[in-house]
Amino acid sequence: MSDFEQLFKQLYETNITKTTHREPYPAILPSRPELNQAGRVVLVPGGGTGVGHAIARSFVRASADTVLIVGRRPDVLAAAGSRLEQEAKASGTNTKIVTRTCDVVNLTQVEALWRDLASQGITVDVLVANAAKFTEPKPILELGADEVWSQFEVNAKSPLYFTEKFYSQPGEKQKFLVNVSTQAIHMTAHSGVALRPAYTLSKMAGTLLFQLIAQNVPPDKMQVISFHPGLIYNDGWKAMGLPLTPEQFDNDDLCGGFAVWATTNEAEFLHGRFVWAAWDVGELSTGEVRKRIDEDPYYLRASIVGLNGGLQA
Ligand SMILES: NC(=O)c1ccc[n+]([C@@H]2O[C@H](COP(=O)([O-])OP(=O)(O)OC[C@H]3O[C@@H](n4cnc5c(N)ncnc54)[C@H](OP(=O)(O)O)[C@@H]3O)[C@@H](O)[C@H]2O)c1
Repeated sequence: MSDFEQLFKQLYETNITKTTHREPYPAILPSRPELNQAGRVVLVPGGGTGVGHAIARSFVRASADTVLIVGRRPDVLAAAGSRLEQEAKASGTNTKIVTRTCDVVNLTQVEALWRDLASQGITVDVLVANAAKFTEPKPILELGADEVWSQFEVNAKSPLYFTEKFYSQPGEKQKFLVNVSTQAIHMTAHSGVALRPAYTLSKMAGTLLFQLIAQNVPPDKMQVISFHPGLIYNDGWKAMGLPLTPEQFDNDDLCGGFAVWATTNEAEFLHGRFVWAAWDVGELSTGEVRKRIDEDPYYLRASIVGLNGGLQA
């Protein structure tokens, strides 16, 4: 095995659940009646490509009333929108697909998006914080403060702004927020991950942001879960020119199904935590892992390794 293949393989190493997945499995299938999304409007920034698109597709399969995808490129959104419409037909759901061009760091555009939804009487029930800015492989001090900060704008500030708008919508209906995070936040020393420290920094900021938001909001008002989607082949991976084929990556229906599951009451025990889509949800929900989640307020949350003992929630 080459050094590179060894590094890639390490990205799959995890020991939280004995069973891990790279393909969808029954408990997270969007067709499961318990995961049905009828009556819900789902908003996915970055839903035109990659992980966000797979998540949007799973919400279509789960019969969401409306799936709204957002991005900056109209052509990409239009193509993605028609794929989702085909998916709605193929899976026999009546999901309405809406596409909207919006730069998520342009607060005037974001404001207009939420104002338009409100003026149409549309309330968003599920927000998937997915859009992200990636970084070239350079140390933080070589990237420079402006570039590093621009990643905070997409990966932390914009999710906060969307969440403020989402949370402050009128009505008492329970809301669900799924934050697409990354394993990079807990693998900072992995030599592949370490090449892009500004991405890790800003994604950790976004993940800690949602953890702390969840601390002050009960899940029956807004359930908040962060997750690593797995390794999903996209233009970014392609551009790296790595000696990998798309087949070596995860099936993107895994992160899609997991995101849908994360918006159900079955996942409430994960409120404010960080998990991987690969971890078996049956094992997470029961036994030793569940016991530790219920007893240890720091487990699967961001903090300083080694300093948690003795501290109370
Ligand atoms: N793929 C993986 O293996 C992997 C692994 C771990 C975590 N993730 C996470 O998964 C999420 C999605 O990433 P991806 O892999 O699917 O990458 P991607 O295909 O590049 O998706 C990023 C999406 O965000 C949108 N976006 C970026 N900046 C935006 C802006 N300013 N305004 C509006 N939309 C914007 C992009 O659309 P436009 O360019 O058209 O605006 C694009 O649709 C990210 O949160 C990432 O951290 C991915």
